[in-house]
Amino acid sequence: MFQGEAIQLVRIDEHLLELKFDRQKSAVNVLDSVAMNEWREVNALLKAQTGVRGLLVTSGKDVFIVGADIHEFTGIFSLSDEALIKKTLESNAILNDFEDLPFPTVAAINGYALGGGFEVALSADARVISEAARVGFPEIGLGIYPAYGGTVRLTRLVPLAKAMEWILGAQMHTAQEALEIGAVHAAVGPDQLRANGLDLLRRMNTGEVDWRAMRERKLQPAVATPAEMESAVAQFTPMARDAAERQHLPAAQVALGMIRSACGYARAQAQAIETAFFPEVAKSPAANALIQIYLNDQAVKKINKGALTAQLAPKQVAVIGAGIMGGGIAYSSAFRGVPVRLKDLAQKALDIGVAEAKRQLARQVKSGRITLERSEAVISSIQPQLDFAGFETVDLAVEAVVEDMGVKSRVLAELEQLLPAHAVMATNTSSLRVSDLAKCLQQPQRFVGLHFFNPVPAMPLVEVIRGAQTGEETVARARAFVQKMGKTPVVVQDCPGFLVNRVVTPYLRAFIRMVSLGADPYAIDKAMLAYGWPMGPAHLEDVVGLDTGTRVLDVIAAGYGDRMPVIERNVLEIMVERGLLGQKAGEGFYVYSTNSEGKSTRQPNPTMAAVLQEIQPMGARYFSAEEIVDCLMIPLLLESVHCMQEKIVSSPAELDTALLFGLGYPRYLGGALKQIDQMGMGELIRRSERYADMGPEYQPTAAMREMALQDGRFYG
Ligand code: NAI
Repeated sequence: MFQGEAIQLVRIDEHLLELKFDRQKSAVNVLDSVAMNEWREVNALLKAQTGVRGLLVTSGKDVFIVGADIHEFTGIFSLSDEALIKKTLESNAILNDFEDLPFPTVAAINGYALGGGFEVALSADARVISEAARVGFPEIGLGIYPAYGGTVRLTRLVPLAKAMEWILGAQMHTAQEALEIGAVHAAVGPDQLRANGLDLLRRMNTGEVDWRAMRERKLQPAVATPAEMESAVAQFTPMARDAAERQHLPAAQVALGMIRSACGYARAQAQAIETAFFPEVAKSPAANALIQIYLNDQAVKKINKGALTAQLAPKQVAVIGAGIMGGGIAYSSAFRGVPVRLKDLAQKALDIGVAEAKRQLARQVKSGRITLERSEAVISSIQPQLDFAGFETVDLAVEAVVEDMGVKSRVLAELEQLLPAHAVMATNTSSLRVSDLAKCLQQPQRFVGLHFFNPVPAMPLVEVIRGAQTGEETVARARAFVQKMGKTPVVVQDCPGFLVNRVVTPYLRAFIRMVSLGADPYAIDKAMLAYGWPMGPAHLEDVVGLDTGTRVLDVIAAGYGDRMPVIERNVLEIMVERGLLGQKAGEGFYVYSTNSEGKSTRQPNPTMAAVLQEIQPMGARYFSAEEIVDCLMIPLLLESVHCMQEKIVSSPAELDTALLFGLGYPRYLGGALKQIDQMGMGELIRRSERYADMGPEYQPTAAMREMALQDGRFYG
């Protein structure tokens, strides 16, 4: 009856029709403008039919509909408020026309029905779902909320608090959960889905199931007493407020207010409210940033796609050095099914490394994520050893010994003799150049940097460092290993600090400078936390360890010569002299202790008063939160541009993803380059000029000025 690019309308029999979403030349269905336009046409066709007694909505793919096409968002959201509202209401009209058809409709949800896809299903009179399917509204995670009537329909179909939980929580839900809250009529095995949907239509026709009442319920105000409404709003207010205030993500708070306003109205008015609030979230910088994060994630996945092949992924790995990092790498590899030979000089280190892996596994078993048998299999695939036995069968070896050029060079040169010819040698150095370390090797093309982050099991990023002589196949093998571990590789050119540590170095140096100028380190932490970082720079130094922190900062800065000159006599140096080494020593900027409930706590360290007195001979000086943020962020942003311009990574998507995963860059900003695009390069340069006397890190390059003149952007 209708054969489109996204939708087909076919007759099942004399009285029943099937509306099938089946996007041509695509593995999935999306609710993009093509699908919406076709659906409008199909609705007109359906309205003109006579003798129809029911319609089944299906999908010709493994998924039902995965949602709107996020690639279209940026264009649509840049419309004026009025145009955006008009467009949203037009889309709503399509779902409403479908909902108002003069015969019953049932959606058969066979796979993912997310966002707009779930909204399509909700516009049918009833839904049956396959036990294998998942439904939900991920929109809040993209800085928006469902605006094709989804918030209106779900709040009419299920208890209000549940609807809010589903909308604001942005989680995917199982078929069983959908059944429990009343979002679907039945959850059945995949094979029975179609028959079940058709049977429901039949029962609707016989009057056994009152489809008109089901439909009417969605057209009326939500069934919730004022007390229920207040209790639901009170339940979700703290979460929504926290997201808005601490993470600068306002969508949940706006959605909560919107739902509350719309609940008391029938469909038309309620949808008008849902639509009216929408530009406030859709046009927010946070939504723009979160959408970029999503697109970047897709772009990075695409870059890495194909890199993980059975041929490239290692079957046997070795890790040299069973310390904090080596232990973590060994565990992460073994956990993903790649056996590891873990070598150290000291039995004690091996014992600690294996004990740590056991501790991690016990947690996984306790939380039910893995079985005891699996945990035992993982442990037995880590072979602790003091010698090099079995290294002749190793495909990839990671060196994670102490950060010392001499020690590392000796270890690598020895490894080269022991490993088979095809094996990759990797270093987990944090501050040495891969190309410098390669000098000890006869086959530098087999050598690559694999820069893991601490704690390894939790951190999703690994920088794959391409040294001057690293071979393409070596990069490919290293990348395959990282993906095999379930982590995201980003290939980075060899330079001091690589990407993430390089970008954070000017930020931390700005912190040190500000403290020398009289700033209160705790005020700085407070300002940066409020700005959206997971922790402030003082706290970060404590976590890294002041001794390691200063050493790494100095080594990286030295690599940039005049651009990052030595900061004479700084706060970190004094702290190291006084043994204030941070969390591991129990005190640094903060004093660390464990309270009576076994929770670790942190208080500003009173001993710091004397340190500050020494470093601040002119006394304390007040800086506003805005000054603090600018002082720290401007050099970080400029350094990110340096990295792009020097082609340290190959795309803005990789740079911003690396900062997000490696540093915990505030999500509402989308990443450094996204942030610059939003503020404009010209504005960044104007601000940097205001802080020119803070140091050369605030100096924009000629290329940056040129970019500002051209109104250039990193993202199209
Ligand atoms: P660590 O001091 O905890 O562990 C080093 C281990 O190497 C010790 O167990 C030591 O016994 C062993 N070792 C020393 N010489 C050896 C040799 N010749 N053969 C075998 N084992 C030997 O150090 P950590 O923190 O694990 O760091 C290791 C490497 O990872 C360093 O290059 C460091 O810069 C880098 N890194 C550290 C990060 C961190 O946050 N700790 C983050 C990223 C990289």
